[in-house]
Amino acid sequence: MTMEKIPEPPSDAPAIRVMTMPRDTNAEGTIFGGVILSALDQAGYIEAKRQADHKYVTVQMDGVVFKKPVYMGDVLALYAETTRIGRTSIHIKVRVMAERRAGHGAVVPVTEGEVVYVALDADGRPTEIVPSA
Ligand SMILES: CC(C)(COP(=O)(O)OP(=O)(O)OC[C@H]1O[C@@H](n2cnc3c(N)ncnc32)[C@H](O)[C@@H]1OP(=O)(O)O)[C@@H](O)C(=O)NCCC(=O)NCCS
Repeated sequence: MTMEKIPEPPSDAPAIRVMTMPRDTNAEGTIFGGVILSALDQAGYIEAKRQADHKYVTVQMDGVVFKKPVYMGDVLALYAETTRIGRTSIHIKVRVMAERRAGHGAVVPVTEGEVVYVALDADGRPTEIVPSA
């Protein structure tokens, strides 16, 4: 029997965990990339709100890589880390780990990417980010 090397998940707590369901699958039977992107966006948003409590919109996603497939029933853990705070924008790196349903506890890095959010004022204009105390 071959033993796959299982990478250690990041030590910090995930921004979110998501249970994948039959409705999340693509025509191949694995999890649709758009579902993972949606979760990536949510995790980044939660991290942005943690840094500074503003209204945000997503302006860009950078370097998204789907490294391994996600299977129905896997639980996704999304780890979010702030990499840059500009005047009105904030960059969040998100790493997605799949806790395999049928993997005897295996945890596999499946997707990563960076999401850029812009803070908006009440009129919908970019506004200066004021970090939470
Ligand atoms: C986000 C939005 C308000 C920015 O408008 P804008 O006219 O480009 O604003 P500005 O030129 O003042 O730039 C604001 C900030 O966004 C950053 N920015 C703008 N476009 C960017 C891009 N493509 N990638 C990364 N950052 C970008 C700027 O660098 C600036 O950051 P800084 O203040 O930290 O230096 C506008 O593009 C928008 O409304 N987009 C739609 C957002 C949306 O609806 N998202 C939901 C998903 S579809």
